[in-house]
Amino acid sequence: MSNLSLSKDKIRILLLEGVHENAIRVFEQAGYSNIEFHKKALDEDVLKEKIKDAHIVGIRSRTQLTDSVINAAEKLFSVGCFCIGTNQVDLRSALSKGVPVFNAPYSNTRSVAELVLGEAIMLMRGIPAKSTSCHEGGWMKSATGSYEVRGKTLGIIGYGHIGSQLSILAEALGFNVIFYDIVNKLPLGNATPCDSMDQLLQTSDIVSLHVPDTPETRNMITARELGEMKKGAHFINAARGQVVDIPALADAIKDEHIAGAAIDVFPVEPKGADDEFVSELRGLPNVILTPHIGGSTQEAQANIGTEVAEKLVKYSDDGSTFGAVNFMEVSLPVKGEGTRFMHIHENKPGVMAKIAEIMSEHDLNITGQYLQTDGEFGYVVVDVDSDIEKGKGIRKALRQIPGTIRLRFLR
Ligand code: NAI
Repeated sequence: MSNLSLSKDKIRILLLEGVHENAIRVFEQAGYSNIEFHKKALDEDVLKEKIKDAHIVGIRSRTQLTDSVINAAEKLFSVGCFCIGTNQVDLRSALSKGVPVFNAPYSNTRSVAELVLGEAIMLMRGIPAKSTSCHEGGWMKSATGSYEVRGKTLGIIGYGHIGSQLSILAEALGFNVIFYDIVNKLPLGNATPCDSMDQLLQTSDIVSLHVPDTPETRNMITARELGEMKKGAHFINAARGQVVDIPALADAIKDEHIAGAAIDVFPVEPKGADDEFVSELRGLPNVILTPHIGGSTQEAQANIGTEVAEKLVKYSDDGSTFGAVNFMEVSLPVKGEGTRFMHIHENKPGVMAKIAEIMSEHDLNITGQYLQTDGEFGYVVVDVDSDIEKGKGIRKALRQIPGTIRLRFLR
């Protein structure tokens, strides 16, 4: 497969599932005009037909880019997942065909942090129970069990993008922030790191989880950890569903050891609106249940539209794969004068030597070279200071190097 230097209007972009209009704006501003936009996901046979000639495809979570769909995409050179997850794409298949896949892992950081902060206030004031009571005609006016967050301790487990953003916002409200992370993290503001998770659990008035789903974090909060928490403390999980033993949390709430909880993610979540949401937490007092919407805001969608489209443009314009989830990451300077060529290959001995030999045979002066390999595959970007002329046979020679998967030129 090869993509020779195509003019931008020849690069076909297929955007599905109503990705945010910011994506189209980014492409157009970068000079790409050949854009086909669909509001919905396409059935597999239509998808295969449409994807056949597409160079860039943008999807959200419904479109399944299986090996068979990727095989039908004869010209595809990059995929954008306009969302966080990339499970819907056969990443290995894409890599083996030289197709980097991009997503927007941090576009909704602020949305999650804001929701958690709002929930922390609601829980400390016992609002879920009071609101439910009002809806039922009640009037729970007592201040018993209602607290300000000012001066309380918020314990953040996982001090990454969301955890650290939350830390800053929470301090502004007067929270005393402590955190625990397996990696040594720079504390922001006045936040204080804890030596152990137990220390955090024992000290916090509210514990909020912001860890990824890994073998180590699965069931990291069970009856034992909940038992370590202060009596009357609150618990929030907007991270991943497998991290918390939900029946144990339900028991801790029924026993009144935990005063309230806000849970956005669950070990098993309904597949759609018609599927019933089943959880031991349903019907418990002072529990906020939300359908995995921590990151679902208009702003996050807009950010995703921009972030993913920018990554796709950058790859198309420069060959930069920074932020690709399945691909050798090469962050490149903007292409200057001359020619840049991008060679994706099986990581076999001799490929680089052969490229250098071909350059030398064609009297090309190399001004920059960037290589990344991942064991099985390699991606090399080479800048030369002259324009490649047609008919000189360099493209053919490069394509014929054994193990070549894809070749692109930028002039
Ligand atoms: P991140 O990767 O920036 O941060 C995760 C942090 O957790 C890292 O600092 C990491 O070192 C730490 N960590 C990993 N294992 C740990 C362990 N065993 N103990 C303590 N710390 C540990 O991730 P980000 O963007 O902050 O996201 C956090 C979580 O939020 C993820 O699970 C993500 O899937 C989830 N999320 C949920 C959303 C929702 O809609 N509810 C939306 C966006 C993200």
